[in-house]
This record gives sequence, C-alpha cells and structure tokens, in this order.
Amino acid sequence: MGFVLALDEGTTSTRAVIFSEDGRTAASHTQEFTQHFPATGHVEHDATEIWRTSREVIGRVMGSAQLTQGDITALGITNQRETTILWDRSTGRPVHRALVWQDTRGGEHVAALAEHAEEIQQITGLPVNTYFSAIKLLWLLDSDPGIRERAEAGELLFGTVDTWLIWNLTGGTDGGIHVTDPTNASRTMLMDLRTRTWSDRMLELTGIPAALLPEIRPSVGEFGRVADRQLLGGVPITGVLGDQQAAAFGQCAFSPGDTKNTYGTGCFLLTNTGGDIRRSEHGLVSTVAYEIAGEDPVYALEGSIAVAGSLVQWLRDSLGIIRTSQEVEELAASVEDCGDVYFVPAFSGLFAPRWRSDARGTLVGLTRFSTKAHIARAALESTAFQTAEVLTAMREDSGFAIRRIAADGGMSVNDALMQFQADVADCEVVRPELVESTALGAAFAAGIGAGVHSGTAEVAAFAVHRESWTPQISADERTRVLARWDQAVQRSLGWVE
Ligand code: G3P
Repeated sequence: MGFVLALDEGTTSTRAVIFSEDGRTAASHTQEFTQHFPATGHVEHDATEIWRTSREVIGRVMGSAQLTQGDITALGITNQRETTILWDRSTGRPVHRALVWQDTRGGEHVAALAEHAEEIQQITGLPVNTYFSAIKLLWLLDSDPGIRERAEAGELLFGTVDTWLIWNLTGGTDGGIHVTDPTNASRTMLMDLRTRTWSDRMLELTGIPAALLPEIRPSVGEFGRVADRQLLGGVPITGVLGDQQAAAFGQCAFSPGDTKNTYGTGCFLLTNTGGDIRRSEHGLVSTVAYEIAGEDPVYALEGSIAVAGSLVQWLRDSLGIIRTSQEVEELAASVEDCGDVYFVPAFSGLFAPRWRSDARGTLVGLTRFSTKAHIARAALESTAFQTAEVLTAMREDSGFAIRRIAADGGMSVNDALMQFQADVADCEVVRPELVESTALGAAFAAGIGAGVHSGTAEVAAFAVHRESWTPQISADERTRVLARWDQAVQRSLGWVE
C-alpha cells in the first residue's frame, strides 16, 4: 500500500501527516514557529523558518512512520492563505519577513482602491481589505525604494506560502518551480475568479508587476517533483489547496450547499456553490473551492473570521489566565453562563460579515462579580457568535437553507462550544472523528492527482461524522443573546480613527 503525505502549513504551526490510501492517519508531527508582532497591527513570519520547520516535520514524520520516500506516492500541500512572501529569485532570500494575513498594514492602499471596490469585487470576489495579498504586496513594494525596481526587472518573486514551499521543494535557486493554485490565487485580489488567470485590470489598478506572479495551475494536478534526494526526492506534488478549501475538501463538501466551519487560528465557514460564482451582498467572499485538472472549477462562498483559536492563545500567552489552551474549556465550564460579559476579539479589525478595519478588541459587561472564568467563556462564545452572524449572511447570499454545518479544526474538540454553536446558529453541528480535515483534504487532493483515488466520489466514502449537536435554547433566548452580542460589537467599532 502507498501513502500520501500532507504538509499543512498553518498560521502558528507546521504539520506533516502521513495518510494511508483509505484516509487513515499513519503518523503525524507538528511544530510551532515564531510569531512576530513588531508593532500594533503588524504580524510577521520568517519565511526561512517556515521552510526549515517544513523540512523538519517531514523528516520527523517519516522517521516515526518508519517509511522511506519510495513509500510515499504523492505530496499534498495546504497552507495559511493570503500571507505574502517576496524573495530574490537568485539567492532564494526573502526581502522582508512575510506579512501575515492578520497584518493590518496597507490602509493607504485600501483607501486608494476604495473607489473601485465594486469593480474589484466583480473581478476577484473580494472586498478591498488589508486581509488580501495584493495590499500586503503593495506595502512591501513601497517599503524600500529599490524593491519596486528589482520587482520590475524580474529579480523578485511573489508567493503565498504554497508557492514559497513548492519553489523550495522543487529546487529553489536551482530550478524551483514558481506556481500556485486557484484557491490560493483567489485570495490575492489579483485573480479573475471566472477565468482563474491573473487579471490585467487588477494589475493595472494596483500597478503590481506581472513578472512577480507565479503560474496558476489546477489544485489537483501536477506541480513538479521534490528535488532534494534526502527529503522525499522524486515524490510528485499533486494537490495544493488553501487551508480552508482543503478543510472543505477533507470534509467532502463536494455538493452545492455543503457547509463546513473550521475552528483554527481564525474561523472560516465555507459553503460549496458548485459551478456558480455567487456574488455576496452580505459581506461574504466568493472564492474557488477547488479545481481538478481537466474538470470545471468548483466555487464557494466564505465567511472569514479573523480571530478564534488565536484568542485562546492570547488568553494563555498575553493574559496568562490559562497555562495551556486545553484549560480554557474547563475554566469556561466552571461558570453557569458568561455573566453578561461579551468579548469582541477585533484584533485585526472585524472581517466577515462586517469588514470594519476600524474595530478593535472590546471586553464589555465587567463587574466585580466577573472572574477570569467569565472572560474565558466570553472568549469561546465570541467564535460561536461570529459564526452565527456569518451563517445568517450565508443563508441570504447562497440561497441555501443550511440546516447543518460540519465542524473541524483544533477548537472543534470542545463539546461545550459545539453545543453553544448549535444553539446560537440555530442549526445542527456535526463533527468528524478526525478533526484535522485540512491535512486530510490536502491528502485527498494529492491522492486524486496521483491516481491513488479515482475522484471525489471515491473519497466521499471516507467521510464519517460521528457526533452531532442540535439547538437546545428557545428562539427568544437566542434573539436575546445575539442582540447582546451585537451591542458589544457596536462598542468595538470606530476605535481606530
Ligand atoms: O485566511 C487565513 C487562513 O487561511 C488561516 O487559517 O487555519 O491558520 O486559521 P488558519
């Protein structure tokens, strides 16, 4: 039997997972990497550290599974999206630390493009926001006078994390392949959603040189072979998906209306819209769900929430009210309810459905009665409230009733959160046995690309949802808490002038 290795490059950690052909985990290894917060609103990663940890986790997972590269049929890559890397093609060195998707720099470029917002949404499916790569790239190009010149001369390469890893895996300065897939490209604000090619109009509006951009290839198809003989040498890369699209693929959300919600660093709800590009009127993003070589692309609508698991990390690392992320569940469960405390974690402004970059984190309702347990509870509940808002927008924009969401990601192991989610979103929440749907999706994609699986119909047979939660609160109670949440959000708006 052959194995597929999935490299899951998240916002805070790199994970390598080896799957057998029937979708079972054979071995897994995860390593965190450094988060740099050099100033308010700035979030950076060291791209060379990402490449180093990727090599390390691959080496370790191969060691613990006791496999050699001949056992690996294909490599799938999935990654944090939008994060922007610019590097020198002759040295392979980044010109700056990577600007992470949560980074809010580039407000001046957002303002300059605002008058074209409608046209940009028509072309790319996206609102104009610092979240997307084009804004980060514009900031990088302006950060040093020589950079734009070098970019125009063809000396530099741009990539999201998938592109950076593939270029390095396939040889780097010695013949590395400069490619991406439509799910990642659809997050740059430079791709035409319909044609899945770089948009001339977007390049004209932004002034970004075309020479920087990678070739866009179907998500399931050929991306080249690993070059390093010591590290999976010769293994073909046959599946590449942005992590949220990979989670949807791993949850087998292959039919229009299928909806998944991944509780990771952020929280991202995606609904498959089939071959239709639905243009949102309620603050969602139109995006590519996946494209299999030789087949028509599949699209999705997405509600992107910037802060979910990262709020738990913040409680741990910045406030110190818990020692481990797991402790948050116990602490939150130690109180009966939130004690009328609400926490709006607008650390990067608010994403979907409000898109307010002027919002900032707000904790309201504190009294002498409040304890750290109420804060922990309010923190967890904030993810469910944001998801409920996004789901309302999704029902409006997609036209699907959506009575069920498939949850995954690290925070989805929290049963109390899943129950609260069902309560406030008024829908059934189901959870698979393996909550690492992102890695599984990349493995499925790579497996299809390498011919291990015949197609989505075959992998769909592996999808099993073991647990489910249904709403347990009254409609009146739901209305009351959602109204309270909205009051809290109103207080977070406009903090940045
Ligand atoms: O758009 C950002 C997203 O891809 C990050 O995903 O899993 O790190 O929360 P995650």
